[in-house]
Amino acid sequence: MPRAIISPSMLASNFGQLSAECKRMIKNGAEWLHMDVMDGHFVPNITMGAPILACVSKDVPGIYMDCHMMVSEPSRWVKDIADAGGALYTFHIEATSDPLSLIELIHEHKMKAGVAISPDTPSSAITDDVAELADMLLVMTVYPGRGGQKFLERCVPKVAELRARFPEKDIEVDGGVGPKTIDVCAEAGSNVIVAGTAIFGAPQPGEVIQLLKTAVNT
Ligand code: DX5
Ligand code: ZN
Repeated sequence: MPRAIISPSMLASNFGQLSAECKRMIKNGAEWLHMDVMDGHFVPNITMGAPILACVSKDVPGIYMDCHMMVSEPSRWVKDIADAGGALYTFHIEATSDPLSLIELIHEHKMKAGVAISPDTPSSAITDDVAELADMLLVMTVYPGRGGQKFLERCVPKVAELRARFPEKDIEVDGGVGPKTIDVCAEAGSNVIVAGTAIFGAPQPGEVIQLLKTAVNT
């Protein structure tokens, strides 16, 4: 299985000090930062987008921003996110009819490409050709739209199904993941762990990051 990567969800951070919050997470052992982009259409909420990412990228050189695009028109934002310094661009398979062309577009813009599935979407929606071209697969363990929701354990078998098909691929879980829910995710084979509330709500975020990492690596 690929190495453990912890990607704290900035949705749970203090938006007024976003760059400082990113730096604090990196200092506490996070490899990536997870930025939830919501357009008020694919999901009901609006969060942030390329202009904010550009500021953070400038303030935090070398940051690896894992951009989770909860948007109805994922092809529309590829250039803006790339120009703003995005490293990984993850779109929802539910939001496109041509995932292969979208992955190619993302790669042309020098970003890695991720493919996400919402709780009601089966793992078979990610076909072999799409998965092979993608750099990461994301299994949502809550309905996309907001942080702090309850982990949906029924989504975990999809992680195991994808891991069986793709032993070397990065597989991310996102939503309600923390010390109480990490073990089932790790056992199923996810290696990229997004956690918002569990990390930002902890008195010692570094301890939670370490715990999540250890769970994946053991
Ligand atoms: C939900 C987002 C998640 C969320 C995770 O739509 O994609 O990234 O912020 O937050 P927690 O860990 O609090 O569930
Ligand atoms: Zn997310």
